[in-house]
Amino acid sequence: MAALCVLATVDANGWPQARTLVLRDLGLRLALFMSATSPKFSELSSGSALHRASICLYLPSIQVQYRAHVDLEPVEASLIAESWQLRPRMPKVLDWFYTQRQRQSSEVSSRANLLQALQSLPLPEPLVAPETARGFYLELHDLERLDLAQPDGLHDRVRWARSAGGWKLSTLLP
Ligand SMILES: Cc1cc2nc3c(=O)[nH]c(=O)nc-3n(C[C@H](O)[C@H](O)[C@H](O)COP(=O)(O)O)c2cc1C
Repeated sequence: MAALCVLATVDANGWPQARTLVLRDLGLRLALFMSATSPKFSELSSGSALHRASICLYLPSIQVQYRAHVDLEPVEASLIAESWQLRPRMPKVLDWFYTQRQRQSSEVSSRANLLQALQSLPLPEPLVAPETARGFYLELHDLERLDLAQPDGLHDRVRWARSAGGWKLSTLLP
């Protein structure tokens, strides 16, 4: 579970939207990878403006939840291209399908028809990342940690908030 998070955004109609994503560890920074054709991408960026989002992860083995508000910063195209090569073949083909045929999360007639369309999709040779493969670094605005594993039964809840003078730690009522 340490490699996953739930990303929450708000869509154009004001609906909260949440989905599981791989939380990538890029050196000292955390990042999310996605297709620019996806609804979540539009919920995170419009034109060159980047919006804010929230992530949540729960680590069941140690009973700890982390929540954070995050600002976003685009991951360099060269790094995306390099790590895209490590994807299994089907996600690679899908990324090209999103780019050439239909946006991610749009409706298809059936899974069987989709499989057929994917098999006949013309692909570049060599198979490189499409321009729609994107990533965002997560710049933490604040981070909250809730630790349930306390011998006295009182959960331990703290928040670090970024301020001009550095990080400020507060204890919260669990
Ligand atoms: C374990 C798991 C990991 C996932 N990782 C990613 C990911 O790293 N990037 C991604 O775009 N979608 C990932 N997904 C799929 C998303 O949850 C989601 O279904 C998809 O991106 C479409 O989201 P959207 O319609 O809100 O844009 C993952 C799903 C699961 C269950």
